[in-house]
Amino acid sequence: MTLASTQLASGTLKRLDGRVAIVTGGSRGIGGAISTALAADGANVAVVGIPADRERTEHLRASLNGTAQLVEFFEANVADPEACQRSVNAVIEKYGHVDILVNNAGITKDHTARKMTVEEWQAVLDVNLSGPFYMIKAVLEHMLERKFGRIVNISSVVGKMGNFGQANYAAAKAGLLGLTKTLALETARSGITVNAVAPGFIATEMVKAMPQAAIDIAKGRTPVDRLGEPGEIARAVRFLVDENSGFITGTAFDVNGGMYM
Ligand code: NAI
Repeated sequence: MTLASTQLASGTLKRLDGRVAIVTGGSRGIGGAISTALAADGANVAVVGIPADRERTEHLRASLNGTAQLVEFFEANVADPEACQRSVNAVIEKYGHVDILVNNAGITKDHTARKMTVEEWQAVLDVNLSGPFYMIKAVLEHMLERKFGRIVNISSVVGKMGNFGQANYAAAKAGLLGLTKTLALETARSGITVNAVAPGFIATEMVKAMPQAAIDIAKGRTPVDRLGEPGEIARAVRFLVDENSGFITGTAFDVNGGMYM
């Protein structure tokens, strides 16, 4: 093994000072943990979200020790392609560049397919699948020009195994895996990596909104016998966006407590 190779294998993660990261829906839950982890290592974090995320970003900033100034809010509904482009333009205007995009924003509108309305289907596809595509379109030329980028799409175990009552959500999260692999192929020669993280059930507002019986079932199907913590997803994202993770692209990184292998 060469010296450089040994250093890659054993070195700690590189600091993110000078890096600029966009985290959609990055004010709470999994996104909040990702914003916190990236800012803790020195990245400037642009939280892109809907109006409700503005105040939550303020709360998040208040909880950050010494790195609050690294986190800023930029408004965009990710289901609106023009708003996505405007938010990316605003981030580039403020910081000069973007290195990292984490497509984390997501919603649920659960019903069995029999009862699911077309509006519920469409709303979830718009935010959870089209949203990441619009954000990717908005940063892609810029990353290609700079010959560097780290894109992480937050998919779900549900995109791999399906889930009762979540046809729209499962379809969107499975679609994200196809988007991830295709974009990984298309950008691999340009210093850009594109990966997905597929969390199991994580203790966030999204899961707390589920009926307790459904939470108990999810826990029961998780071999490690608990819900995951948002920080456990952030840890996987942090690894994937590292400068030295350039040989990892097109993966769907399971962080699910063994729920699906
Ligand atoms: P959450 O509901 O706590 O956070 C979602 C964030 O996205 C919020 O900040 C929300 O304001 C933002 N958002 C919603 N719609 C938006 C839009 N149209 N434009 C911009 N921002 C928008 O959810 P949680 O649990 O933190 O989930 C984060 C991601 O992880 C989602 O993509 C979710 O599908 C995924 N996930 C969550 C799991 C869980 O067990 N909590 C499991 C697997 C995946």
